[in-house]
Amino acid sequence: MSALDPESAAPGNQDPTPTGAIPLVRIPPPPPPPEAPLTGAQPLPPLALDQQWYRRAVFYEVLIHSFADSDGDGVGDLHGLISKLDYLSWLGIDALWLPPFFPSPMADGGYDIRDYTGIDPRYGTMEDFRELVIEAHSRGIRIVVDMVLNHTSSQHPWFQASRRDPSGPYGNFYVWRDRPNEYLDARVIFVDTEDSNWAWDPVRQQFYWHRFFSHQPDLNFDNPAVREAMRDVVRFWCATGVDGFRLDAIPYLYEEDGTICENLGPTHRYIASLRDMVDREFPGTVMIAEANQPPHEVVTYFGTDENPECHICFHFPIMPRIFEALREESSHGLREVLAATPPLPKGGQWGTFLRNHDELTLEMISEEDRERMYAWYAPDARMRANVGIRRRLMPLLHGSRREVELADALLLSLPGSPFLYYGDEIGMGDDIRLPDRNGVRTPMQWDDSPGAGFSTADPSNLYLPVVSNPYYDQRAVNVSEHRTRPTSMLNWMRAMLRSRRSHPAFGIGSMTLLSTSDDAVLAFLRRDESETILCINNLATTPRSARIQLPGMAGWHLSDLGSGNWFPDVREDESVDITLARHGFYWLSVTFLDPEEDR
Ligand code: NOJ
Repeated sequence: MSALDPESAAPGNQDPTPTGAIPLVRIPPPPPPPEAPLTGAQPLPPLALDQQWYRRAVFYEVLIHSFADSDGDGVGDLHGLISKLDYLSWLGIDALWLPPFFPSPMADGGYDIRDYTGIDPRYGTMEDFRELVIEAHSRGIRIVVDMVLNHTSSQHPWFQASRRDPSGPYGNFYVWRDRPNEYLDARVIFVDTEDSNWAWDPVRQQFYWHRFFSHQPDLNFDNPAVREAMRDVVRFWCATGVDGFRLDAIPYLYEEDGTICENLGPTHRYIASLRDMVDREFPGTVMIAEANQPPHEVVTYFGTDENPECHICFHFPIMPRIFEALREESSHGLREVLAATPPLPKGGQWGTFLRNHDELTLEMISEEDRERMYAWYAPDARMRANVGIRRRLMPLLHGSRREVELADALLLSLPGSPFLYYGDEIGMGDDIRLPDRNGVRTPMQWDDSPGAGFSTADPSNLYLPVVSNPYYDQRAVNVSEHRTRPTSMLNWMRAMLRSRRSHPAFGIGSMTLLSTSDDAVLAFLRRDESETILCINNLATTPRSARIQLPGMAGWHLSDLGSGNWFPDVREDESVDITLARHGFYWLSVTFLDPEEDR
């Protein structure tokens, strides 16, 4: 079994008997001042000049080990990803989000880090990483890396030192107690595998605190040395020329008895101090918050004008509402969550997504809604994981291209910067037989060859098998075929991304919900100083004709954003009637020009 094999990485197998001397903490050398050239990895001037790029960008999450294998060992790698940058540029991607690619036992897909400043040798070297940054930047693509501040792998040298030498320099790097009786109000997140946030360490003869797997001990942020060590890690990656960080699991940095140990004041203060540091030392570096919290809590991760924290916060609450809306054929839930979404502070942006490398989390909806989501989308128990659903977009929506397109149209038009998940642009399938969340992390399907164009290795030696369900295997779904077929999902997505890119109002404009005569029709305006776009979406499985109210727009003209074809003008009573096919949507330009001039 390869080390990436989920079986060999099962929880509980993670603490090898230590050998030899305890390695020292690798504190990277001080970074060069921002203006010093970084051996070629410096962003090109046009990239550096655009301080608000993240508000207009479309991000693409790519798992390096799943994307492209350049050396035939069955595991994707950095050179593989570099070889696909032209594809990503052709598709119209602005930035890549790379989940962890650091040395790791891979017991949590790499979020169990053994060395924060190294590259897992299966993926390449630091030189390869720098090459990736240079090559991506030369195509106008930015690079965002994951930063796991909250916890390390139990194989990390800090933990190994901490468990062996309580009074040594790392003795206080983790949260140790004699009895597991503190912080009992904190929920267990990985309910499938853990029943407590405390685990017993037979070496130190104490319990340690962990919010995720028990092989992922939480770092002790009360210790100033931990805070400084993690600041140094951030500096280290800034100095490689990356454009930003996705801050993993940030609500959980600090603990306090009598609280749920989430979103605490010191956590916010630490994030604000990180922001202050990157603003001063690496200006322009973007911080993205992974905080799976209700809207009023998520928004606190933007910080304030005086104490800014993150540039982008993922909008967890809106995502399940999109899926709910499709089954309920109603815009009610979406309207509710949009109304509950607080206004963004200056320079802030939502990060929106439909699917990612995790389960589709259902923590932000009520118990009752969760049960309905399971019934609709995860009838087979193997489709569920923790409090969520481990499926890819296309099979989740029962292979309905119309539904997928509508969901994508919402993703690309609702406020926020969209985060796409690799493979969803061709409607890749999943494999619910694989453990944990591996079923949605299978190799990218580039062509119809046995290794799906992902790898030349014997297919039985791939780190995870290619999807084998005949509706979704590499013969049925692959990039190469999609590229040649004008009506393919891939070509549709490319056209949508082009349209979004040429209309910045989608990224930076305001959003106004509109009244419609049919609850199944969701209509809203996206508006900046140069344009107004009317987005209309039919959530129903039947055609609908709806009256849409456009206050203050009597006599304005409507035309299709893509083709320029004219629609009926807004009537004197400030309304317009629009007919949509089932799951149909329109993006219409709204203008007050004299239509005769342009027709
Ligand atoms: C959030 C990551 O998205 C997820 O994949 C991981 O399991 C947890 N953090 C714990 O590291």
